[in-house]
Amino acid sequence: MRLGRLASSLALVFPVAFALHESDVGVVDWHKKLVGVPLTSSSTTAPVFHRVGEETTHSVILTATASNVLAAIFPENGTVAWRYIHESGDNIASFYIHKNVVASLSGPGGATLRTFDILNGHLLLEQRIHEPSHGHLYEPSYLGTSVAYAAEGSDLVVLSNGGLVQWLDNLGTVKWSWSSSDPSALVIFSKVVTTTTHVYAIGLSKTPSSYKLHVAVLSAGTGELTQSSDIPSSITAGLNDLMVVRRADEVLVVWLEQGSLKYLTLSPNLQSSPTAVKGSAFKRIVDVGLSEYGQFLAVKDDGSSRIFKLDGSALKSIWEFSASGNKHADPIFSGGRDKKGNPYIAQVRWSHALNQAAVDVYTGHLGKGVMTAYTFPFDTQSHGIITHATLDCVNPSEMTVVSRLAITTSTGAMQLWQQSQHQWTREESLSTIAVAEFVELQEKVDISHIPKERETFGQRLQRQIMEAQDFPQYALKFVKRFATGSYASASSAAVAPDSAGKPYRDAFGFRQVIVVATPYSKVFGIDSSNGEILWSRMFGLGWAAETGGSIRPVKLYVTQTVHDGDSPQVVLVAQRRAENTLIDTVVYHLDASSGENVAPGVVDKDVLEGVDIISGPLVESFILPDHKTVVMLDEFLQVYLYPDTKEATASFTKLAPSLHFPLRVNVDGQRRLVGQQVSLNTELSDRFVAHPTWTLSLPPSEDIQTLLPASHEPIASFGKVLGNRTTLYKYLNPRMFALLTAPKAQPASCTIYLVDSAKGSVLHRTSVPASGGVCDVQMSLVENWFSYYYYDPEFTGVGQSKGHRMVTVELYEGSQVDEKTKSSELSAFSDKLLDVSTFEQAYIFPHGVTALATTSTKFGISTKDLIVATKNHKILSIPRRVLNPRRPNRKVTAEEQEEQLIHYDPLIPDDPRRTLSHNYEVANVRRIVTAPALLESTSLVFAYGLDLFFTRVAPSNTFDVLNENFNKGQLVVTVTGLAVAIMVTRPMVKRKRLRERWYQ
Ligand SMILES: *[C@@H]1O[C@H](CO)[C@@H](O)[C@H](O)[C@H]1NC(C)=O
Repeated sequence: MRLGRLASSLALVFPVAFALHESDVGVVDWHKKLVGVPLTSSSTTAPVFHRVGEETTHSVILTATASNVLAAIFPENGTVAWRYIHESGDNIASFYIHKNVVASLSGPGGATLRTFDILNGHLLLEQRIHEPSHGHLYEPSYLGTSVAYAAEGSDLVVLSNGGLVQWLDNLGTVKWSWSSSDPSALVIFSKVVTTTTHVYAIGLSKTPSSYKLHVAVLSAGTGELTQSSDIPSSITAGLNDLMVVRRADEVLVVWLEQGSLKYLTLSPNLQSSPTAVKGSAFKRIVDVGLSEYGQFLAVKDDGSSRIFKLDGSALKSIWEFSASGNKHADPIFSGGRDKKGNPYIAQVRWSHALNQAAVDVYTGHLGKGVMTAYTFPFDTQSHGIITHATLDCVNPSEMTVVSRLAITTSTGAMQLWQQSQHQWTREESLSTIAVAEFVELQEKVDISHIPKERETFGQRLQRQIMEAQDFPQYALKFVKRFATGSYASASSAAVAPDSAGKPYRDAFGFRQVIVVATPYSKVFGIDSSNGEILWSRMFGLGWAAETGGSIRPVKLYVTQTVHDGDSPQVVLVAQRRAENTLIDTVVYHLDASSGENVAPGVVDKDVLEGVDIISGPLVESFILPDHKTVVMLDEFLQVYLYPDTKEATASFTKLAPSLHFPLRVNVDGQRRLVGQQVSLNTELSDRFVAHPTWTLSLPPSEDIQTLLPASHEPIASFGKVLGNRTTLYKYLNPRMFALLTAPKAQPASCTIYLVDSAKGSVLHRTSVPASGGVCDVQMSLVENWFSYYYYDPEFTGVGQSKGHRMVTVELYEGSQVDEKTKSSELSAFSDKLLDVSTFEQAYIFPHGVTALATTSTKFGISTKDLIVATKNHKILSIPRRVLNPRRPNRKVTAEEQEEQLIHYDPLIPDDPRRTLSHNYEVANVRRIVTAPALLESTSLVFAYGLDLFFTRVAPSNTFDVLNENFNKGQLVVTVTGLAVAIMVTRPMVKRKRLRERWYQ
């Protein structure tokens, strides 16, 4: 087949493809900037409203997230005001707000301090507080860290690593530093408080049955330790039952001790003794974010709760919220302040039975205290339960309070509610996508395709009118439409909305649904044309609904496409972990265009219920080449099929002898790569069971890091014709996979293998260096093309590229040109399988890489480009020509020129035209998925990580689409002219032929 050559020659004829035109930004691509799921378990990481400065209406919601981001969200519209993405290894521990500054601590023990301007996110200060290598890895990570602001001025007092207190000015200069000299480190200090004269460090020391309070008093001016005492106390729940409340220089430590609420007034000599609040038993204390204003809340044993206020140097109960009753879940409390600084406290109680949340807001400064109550409809079937809420209030006129709540849900969504009005939702679980696939949508059904007998009167009338139009008229109309361009344009994927609400594809197949599943119990259908969520479903837990549990998506397969004549379907294989630690394997089977549950025999309810497949964990799963049957293996390597039908079993039985797959298996306490085949085991209830056929001999200390099967795509050409008319035949082994292994302890290098899964034969092996004990490698394997990125710390490189290497390997049949083994058809056991030659070339890449993928097109005629996600948050495309391993390291000959080879240059230059993501920041990409459009020239590209990004690319240019400026009128004239010419000349040619016959 020479189609590949045709496509590449076309690429030469047309001018070099620019990545994208400015006018296409936002038309052919979209981008979703995410921040991650808020960390709600501590008040030093959870979302909080903050009004910037007094007397101002400008506020933001600040939060630290599970994606290691510190972010500010605009409450008005839910967009990201700013975000700071921490590197891995620099995990955010806690953040602290003061006026228009937010300080954060991150890294082991809070090793790094940063301060940001809350308004714009500008980094004001970045300072190492202690050596990260000396940092304690506390769990949870906010333990042992705290920041307090000096009573006057803008200095900071920072507590890190559970016992190091430092006074810094706003330029980061350390004025003094004090380190707890407790050699056994029994006391972990976790809070620091400043008064005008002193600094208090408050910690807990572990006793056999509970924790004991410990306070160290330091001089504010010098950091000198003036007092250090154990406080008689016994705190069972540790930090959760401990708080510090204050008003100006009056500071109280409050804690819960066997149901009784106790407090201690801090003074420089620590002479006061603990006092107990009389009368009631409490089960927890809640920091509602008003501790700086002397307020907090304590929940009583009976479920009612009291608001306490620091009054002089004593605690006074100022309000009581009544108990929830059994219709509602445990209440969530949050405090907030209006623009005058008045405090408010809300109680949010969510009710499953009523499908709504009830909110009571207490306002202390109005009269004798005012309570405002309202409800908002919370959609539990889409968002699970409310896990956190933060409050913001305005007091527009005397005695009226308007509040808004920013809530976080168990599905990882953030929502803003202004009283009962929903303002916005951010689906932050999309920053945690575990699996994603493109699925083609159905074509809008044309009424002319409806069988005549099923037509309605209107449809019949329309058909007859259409049929009545005679052909010349139809042709004329077509020509007119073609010449004037009034038909769908390939540069827009606009699709008219369908009244039934079902999404349909556009003329070019640019509009598909991207099905994604997240570990936050949710699966989404995303419209590839604009990034909108078409549908979303929450996973049901099956029997584990009683105990609670979580669903971890593992694999996603497209099991029915529109070409099967019905709506497309996907099967998601997941692991369910019940609260009682039992792990099961479950599949969810859904219609990809609507999210409907299509698992046979399962009733579609409020949540998406799955089908239990294995009572135990999944070891491996794959889809059969029929693209219908999903095969799953349990711990005993027994085979389970989904759907479990006669046809599936028949299909599997037929294919079983030719199935070869590698598994990571523990052999003699070591992870080994073992090739497997399946056969019917009659002793084991007639189940198919996998059994080992080969073991890859790896050095004993090596561990498998990545196993990457070759991706199977349509192949248009089996050979590559060279400039001298010889041919290199592509080595196309469908059983080939790539493997990355690393020595277990602090590797100095890792090994990359290309292996055949039938016999475990190594087809190619290479080694890459490690950096800091880890191998930073990304791989891509498609057809006969293997490419990988690695980081080489020793490599100084050219220019500013520091050790970033890109390597491309191409495999061809035989040992020389024109040798053909028909590798794609060879038996798995043929000796010729090892008859392969490789071409390899290394390049210098300007950036670190987090994911690699190749473009894919419908028939595989277009060339494949490499799509790369970089550590500087961009998506690039590298033409295959640039990566060609056969680029000559000398002057290109005429023959090579004909083959389009270019002179070898070790550096792949940073070409802004190849930046698919323009100015978008596409952060921390974990995977790139590509899919063909209906146009052969075009491949769809979806990248996900922290952010989502979609675009489409035409590696060989859009040779199958007319240019917008193409003179269609002239083409019509030319074609018409040719047709006329043929009509005129045909009789002449016929006559000529006839004449010739006479003379032969
Ligand atoms: C969202 O609101 C903020 C604050 O009002 C504003 O600055 C920003 O431009 C808005 N963004 C969008 C996309 O509307």
